[in-house]
Amino acid sequence: MVLRLPNQHIMVTGGSRGIGAAIVEKALAEGASVSIIDVEEGTGRAFVAGLEAKDRVYFARGDIRLAADIKAFHVEAVKRFGPVTGLVNNAGRNSNADPVTMTEEEWDAVFAVDLKSAWLCAREVLPAMIAAKSGSIVNIASVHADHTFIGYFPYAAAKSGLVGLTRSLALEVGAHQIRVNALSPGWTETFLVAEYFSGQPADTRQKVLDVHPMGRIAKPSEIANCAVFLLSDEASFVTGANWRVDGGMGARFAG
Ligand SMILES: NC(=O)c1ccc[n+]([C@@H]2O[C@H](COP(=O)([O-])OP(=O)(O)OC[C@H]3O[C@@H](n4cnc5c(N)ncnc54)[C@H](O)[C@@H]3O)[C@@H](O)[C@H]2O)c1
Repeated sequence: MVLRLPNQHIMVTGGSRGIGAAIVEKALAEGASVSIIDVEEGTGRAFVAGLEAKDRVYFARGDIRLAADIKAFHVEAVKRFGPVTGLVNNAGRNSNADPVTMTEEEWDAVFAVDLKSAWLCAREVLPAMIAAKSGSIVNIASVHADHTFIGYFPYAAAKSGLVGLTRSLALEVGAHQIRVNALSPGWTETFLVAEYFSGQPADTRQKVLDVHPMGRIAKPSEIANCAVFLLSDEASFVTGANWRVDGGMGARFAG
């Protein structure tokens, strides 16, 4: 089998569980070394302990809202595995604020995780990518960047911003042969979604399944497959794009 990420160093934010963890597993299976920054130390260490290729994994607790945490993490990761060749800005959070009562602090907290962190991490890894004249950045956005629903304010704004950031960055670094893409998952079986369903009426999950052409939502590994493709040379002419992986949900309208 030809590996798709041999000798690569892939940095994944929020790689302790869910979609991030699935991307870590796929990247390892494709021959990469992987560094994970996640604010959940216990979850991250337990996940890494269960991996077969743990010698190719560096995990450290860090908060991607903080530039200093990202810098310290990046320095250590590079010491272990060399310059980062692929970055996955995956960590994210839900938001269910009310637009009238939401405070500025709450607004900033959402945007710090769901948007600003992607720029902070890119800023850290780009100098080495520019020097190498190669690299790939994948920003995990959401179908909320295109259409959203009530009660999720202002998640769609942050994820739309992330897709805009993707376009801008792709233009800024394209001449250095660095590719930047967004990946927009639809409903995916993770903690984030379980957390959402737990706060909704009991029939919500079935209603969600009913609007999916395939009658199901995604497994994290199905999102990870697309992320690994975008990281790999197979996507060598793919940049500035937003890849929707939603099982066809966005292809339908009500009725
Ligand atoms: N699950 C879905 O249906 C879905 C759909 C569309 C988009 N997404 C996006 O995919 C990404 C991953 O989502 P998931 O469902 O796997 O979520 P998850 O909550 O299962 O995992 C997110 C990870 O990010 C980490 N994290 C959160 N804040 C952090 C911070 N400040 N610093 C460092 N790490 C932090 C968490 O500890 C966790 O390990 C998110 O950006 C999310 O918005 C998810």
